[in-house]
This record gives sequence, structure tokens and C-alpha cells, in this order.
Amino acid sequence: MKRNANILQIENLGIHFDTFEGTARVLDGVSLELAPGDTLGVVGETGCGKSITSKAVLGLLPVPPTKIVSGRILFQGEDLLDKSEKEIGKIRGTRIAMIFQDPMTYLNPVFSIEKQMVDVIVRHGRQRGEPVTRKQARTQAVDLLDAVQIPSPADRIREYPHEFSGGMRQRVLIAMALSGKPDLLIADEPTTALDVTIQAQILRLLKDLVNRFNLSILLISHDLGVVAKLCRRIAVMYAGNVVETATIAQVFDQPAHPYTQGLLASIPRLSRRVDSLEGIKGSIPSFIDPPGGCRFNPRCGHAMSVCRKEKPLLEETSPGHRTACFLYKSSWPNT
Ligand SMILES: Nc1ncnc2c1ncn2[C@@H]1O[C@H](COP(=O)(O)OP(=O)(O)OP(=O)(O)O)[C@@H](O)[C@H]1O
Ligand SMILES: [Mg+2]
Repeated sequence: MKRNANILQIENLGIHFDTFEGTARVLDGVSLELAPGDTLGVVGETGCGKSITSKAVLGLLPVPPTKIVSGRILFQGEDLLDKSEKEIGKIRGTRIAMIFQDPMTYLNPVFSIEKQMVDVIVRHGRQRGEPVTRKQARTQAVDLLDAVQIPSPADRIREYPHEFSGGMRQRVLIAMALSGKPDLLIADEPTTALDVTIQAQILRLLKDLVNRFNLSILLISHDLGVVAKLCRRIAVMYAGNVVETATIAQVFDQPAHPYTQGLLASIPRLSRRVDSLEGIKGSIPSFIDPPGGCRFNPRCGHAMSVCRKEKPLLEETSPGHRTACFLYKSSWPNT
């Protein structure tokens, strides 16, 4: 198998859903890349396709109604779309782990933290072909709770989820995710349900874990401030496309795509969320009948005739900075 320098490389991923109203063309050729040990934040308005992209990586989209119509998802050089359900099951949890917005959904209220962590560690051990006893798993669980900075972990592990605060529950979920010794952690809105102080603590913890556990992180958030705190690079999504990707500094200092410019203009303070875009009129288009050409063209103050006819591809506008916009193309396609 050919090795790839990126731990995760998504190429031209197209995903459709069959709905009663017709085919929803939700992902329109998404491309992203994440280098080993790097942190990539994916941002964009609600409904732009962030979670669908992460679920596709994890093999969590039900077929039907989902149809993968184009592209590849290379993880450590292997295309996940070629894998069987069983093969993906082995990768999920061990080589790729995930944490989500609401930890309580993933913790069972009737079992102690100890039982839930031990079960997960024993299962991960079996999946990796490195079986552990329940006693060994308990020792590992206490060490992991210590790593995610739960105080007095040997005592607190006996408690139940309702005895933990929201921030501590998310730490437990992070500890469980780490127990599979993953190379890639996908975090979908991991701090959205938490207040700002706890949010900052969790982001600091994740940053610390990148180095300690040699992790790569794909962070999904509609909050640019959250992404800026944890990530080195950013991918901005609009209506099922990545429209710009660069380092955090490049995007904040020299946003190139008109959508990114609007996004930043509508967020005077970094900590504000991208729920509504005061700087950009209109809203995200229908996926059943999306605009032709660049999907952003109806909302774009710079739209030209080419933008309504051709789809701009992500191209380098400066080193390490790629933008999908005809404003930056030296020669336009003949239309
Ligand atoms: N089963 C489905 N059938 C049809 N459309 C779907 C289905 N699941 C998701 N979608 C659509 O796909 C689009 C992208 O959804 P996704 O959950 O990826 O958005 P998101 O960027 O994560 O938004 P948010 O910030 O609100 O979490 C949405 O418009 C959603 O309505
Ligand atoms: Mg989402």
C-alpha cells in the first residue's frame, strides 16, 4: 500500500442523501489534509457539512440514504471507503477516536465511571490484539483520568456520571478516547455545551495531549475562537465545499475568500460563534437545488459571470494557503 505523508487526506469527497424532496447534494467535493501531529480546525455555518465530513471518516453514515458519489478518504495512506464494515469497526475507537458535543449521551447514567472505562479499555485491548485483564484495565483507567486532570482519580473513578460536572464528563470521554491509543482524534463541537472557562480548560488539555500522546486532531466547530485556541491550521467550509485552507494566522491576517472575509467581519470578538452572519446577506442554499458554479455566488459581493457557471477549485494563493475563488485565478476557464 502506498504511504501518504498526511495522516488524513480527504480528496474530492462527494456525498448525496436521498430525501422525499429529491437528492440533497450535501458534500460537493470536499478536500482536506491533516499532517501527523498537526491540528486542523474545520469551521463554517450550521448545516455546511462539517459533521457529515467527520462521520464519513468514521464510517458512521447509514447507506441508504447516504450515497458516496466521489472521492477518497485516505487514513495513513489507506482509503477508508474501500474498507468493509468490519475493517472500519476495528479502526474506529483504536486508530481513530472521537469525542462529541454532549458527553452525557455517551455515558450510561446507571453504571459507574469505573465500569464504563474498564469495559471500553478491555474492548479496545481486544480490538488491538493486546488483551488486558479487568484489573489491568482499571489501573489504566485511573492513569488516564489522571492524564486528563481529574483530581483523586483512584477515588473518583467509583462515582457515577451525574456526580461529575459537564467539563469532567468531557474529560472522561477524552480519557476513554485515548484508551484505544489512537493516532487521530476527531472532536466534533467538544466544548460547545460547556461554559467559557471550562471550554478553555478542555482546549488546553487537548493541546497538551497532542504532544504527550502523539495525536493528530481534527476539530470541528462553528466557533472560530475555539479553533484558533487549539489548531495550527484551519479549513473554512461553505455549503458542502472547503473554500479556503491555511494556517490560523494566514486566515486571520489575510482572509482570501469573500466568505471567509465575511465570516471574520461578522465576528468582532474571537469568542463569538458563527450562528449568524451579519456581514453576509442571505443564508446557506438548498442542497437539493444548489446554485450553479460557486455555491457562494448568490451571497458574494464580488460575483462575476464565471462564478455562476464554473466551480472554482482550491488552488494555492500563497505558500500553504489555498482558496477556491475566481478572484485569484490568473486565467479563467473559457465559458
Ligand atoms: N440523513 C440526511 N438526509 C438529508 N440531509 C441530511 C441528512 N443528514 C444531514 N443532512 C444535511 O446535511 C447538511 C450538513 O449537515 P451537517 O450535520 O454536516 O452540518 P454541520 O456543518 O455539522 O452543522 P452544525 O454546525 O449545525 O452541526 C445539513 O444541511 C443537513 O440538513
Ligand atoms: Mg455538526
